[in-house]
Amino acid sequence: MNEIKLFCPASVANVSCGFDILGICLENVGDEMIIRKTNNPGVKITKIKGDNLPFENKKNVAGISAMTLVKEKNIPFGFEIEIYKGIASGSGIGSSAASSAGAVFGINKLLGSPFTKNELIKFAMEGEKLASGTLHADNVAPIILGGFTLIRCSKTLDIINLPTPKDLFITIVHPKIELKTSDSRSVLKQKVPLQKTIQQSANLASLVSGLYTNDYKLISRSLVDVIIEPSRSALIPAFDELKYAAKKKGSLGSGISGSGPSMFALSKGEKIAKNVSAEMGKVLEPLDVEYETFISKINTEGIKIIS
Ligand code: HSE
Repeated sequence: MNEIKLFCPASVANVSCGFDILGICLENVGDEMIIRKTNNPGVKITKIKGDNLPFENKKNVAGISAMTLVKEKNIPFGFEIEIYKGIASGSGIGSSAASSAGAVFGINKLLGSPFTKNELIKFAMEGEKLASGTLHADNVAPIILGGFTLIRCSKTLDIINLPTPKDLFITIVHPKIELKTSDSRSVLKQKVPLQKTIQQSANLASLVSGLYTNDYKLISRSLVDVIIEPSRSALIPAFDELKYAAKKKGSLGSGISGSGPSMFALSKGEKIAKNVSAEMGKVLEPLDVEYETFISKINTEGIKIIS
């Protein structure tokens, strides 16, 4: 195989109560990438469409992730990367992670898969570090592994694939304002009161239990973030109204997708997810802010090979 074309999906990190350790892979929103072998050793980004991103490896999340992988092996040939962005930068649905994960996934395939999917997460996290200043895996892990992923430890790549209840749907509402992850992280408090840590741990544990037992009511009660959301909500236009709209139409819960500005809502069934999307859209309609909405099933497969 000399060339591979990939669909690199969007993702929702944090999922309310799992800051930096929980993520979900989306089904129908994402980028495409083409990666091909060349005679010249190293990595070269040859095409970027759909966004104004740097071509230099050190400044591009796909380039830096790919370089980190390539340096681990003595490879007599090189790789060209073409990136077709479908996910806007700074949208909160894992734009940088899709490019980082796609680059290492594709190169690994062209090499005959010397690395496991878990090992690829380590390389893709280098792109996240470039984008946000921290090595978090809560977007790249679900993109590479699919479904819901829980990161117990990103240093040792102790990552768990959680089950996906089959009727879960995600609504994404993306107000088209760019919010850099680094900026959204800069508003976070570095100290958390013990009581809030207890509440957050209880919610996270209960959410995981709800996913294993298909207990939608428990999932709903657990989708609460008492630590991160209070600091970040001011960055999202009409945050309270969006949450109210999601609740009113019967979602299980809603919150900030990753570092924002997108909001996500989980619902039982597609019909509710669509109603939630329409109601959340109505909130943004009168405001002076462009937006888009998506409905997605949870993608349990992760990155897909198109050809
Ligand atoms: N967990 C990260 C954050 C995700 O919320 O900052 C960034 O997409």
